Amino acid sequence: MRVLVIGSGAREHALALALRKDPAVTEVTVAPGNAGIAQHVDVRAVNASSGEEVVALAQELAADLVVIGPEVPLVLGVADAVRAAGIPAFGPSASAARIEGSKAFAKDVMKVAGVRTAHSEIVDHPGELDAALDRFGPTWVVKDDGLAAGKGVVVSPDRSVAREHAAELLENGHPVLLESFLDGPEVSLFCLVDGENVVALLPAQDHKRVGDGDTGPNTGGMGAYTPLPWLPEQTLTAIVEDVVKPVAAEMVARGVPFSGLLYAGLAIGQGGPAVVEFNCRFGDPETQAVLAMLDSPLAELLYATATGTLDQVAAPRWKDGSAVTVVLAAENYPGRPRSGDIISGAESTGTGTESEVLHAGTAQREDGALVSAGGRVLSVVGQGADLAEARANAYARLSGIKLPGGHFRSDIGLAAEEGRITIPAAV
Ligand code: GLY
Repeated sequence: MRVLVIGSGAREHALALALRKDPAVTEVTVAPGNAGIAQHVDVRAVNASSGEEVVALAQELAADLVVIGPEVPLVLGVADAVRAAGIPAFGPSASAARIEGSKAFAKDVMKVAGVRTAHSEIVDHPGELDAALDRFGPTWVVKDDGLAAGKGVVVSPDRSVAREHAAELLENGHPVLLESFLDGPEVSLFCLVDGENVVALLPAQDHKRVGDGDTGPNTGGMGAYTPLPWLPEQTLTAIVEDVVKPVAAEMVARGVPFSGLLYAGLAIGQGGPAVVEFNCRFGDPETQAVLAMLDSPLAELLYATATGTLDQVAAPRWKDGSAVTVVLAAENYPGRPRSGDIISGAESTGTGTESEVLHAGTAQREDGALVSAGGRVLSVVGQGADLAEARANAYARLSGIKLPGGHFRSDIGLAAEEGRITIPAAV
């Protein structure tokens, strides 16, 4: 099987390495890829948001499967274009990708499907903002009602901070979503979905704030670990049965069946799991850890999803132990990250078991030097018999990587390792 992966992050690096391990896969190409991915597989230039360009490349490569990593091409209909050309695509149609691209659409699907989620209001005029803010609090959640790579979210107990963010979004012509705050530990559950067939992968937890102890602004994600020792099996089953399956069924019922990876982001609070958001693609940085634990052929699972035969493949098998992703970010991330800093010690083996380096914002200069070229520069993934060992392996590998101004969180997975994450007894 020849597989074309669209995207350029550490998530796509992880997908490429996992696909390459599948004995059924003869060739993996990533477009546009990055400097680290290029060490392992062919990379090709492409405008990932252009269905025409992606189809032309897939045809040139005689791809049997196109896996679309990021949300923007999905929302723009790149998967539709690939399917229209007769090539199986892993990723939802533009209509189904609205589950991520339009928070209003997602809320409506959840309401009809009877899924618990935060109460929300859309504000699209500055004159409505203050009255709307008064209906929320004492913790305000302000989101960009569009795609913002996680950075459009402000969660604050300070009304003026919330107001400032909302006003700035409105000034830039972006409708604002105000939400009630969902308390409780967060879970990212990735599910392969083909219509009403749902196959859950291992649950993971992201760390969205930039600083240790969940301090500082939100980011696209600074690290993750899987599985979650504090999440009971019955809660996981309840998420699949009472959240993901009803949403998948509702999308089928409204004529926009979902095909691809449905990512449920949830908070486990007093009333049980409640949805924070749905995304229409693999999450980053959780994917890097989740795929490190996968013991089944990935291409078979993605191909079955893309071709509507998910019910005919064996359930995924998982390795014992844990995996942890730690993100190394550039100076000033998540603000305006500095680019062009020389990175050393970041060689990716492509076969690492205890640890692996997956590239995201990296580029190769003309003189051959590896330099930073984005906010989240790379992910280090550690694996081990338990969370403590996986963390130790990730941080040991990270200590050998040098990036001027680079920063990372030192506490990824630490609260779980120390048994400090609890969920309400009734859940
Ligand atoms: N882990 C956050 C995201 O992928 O959106």
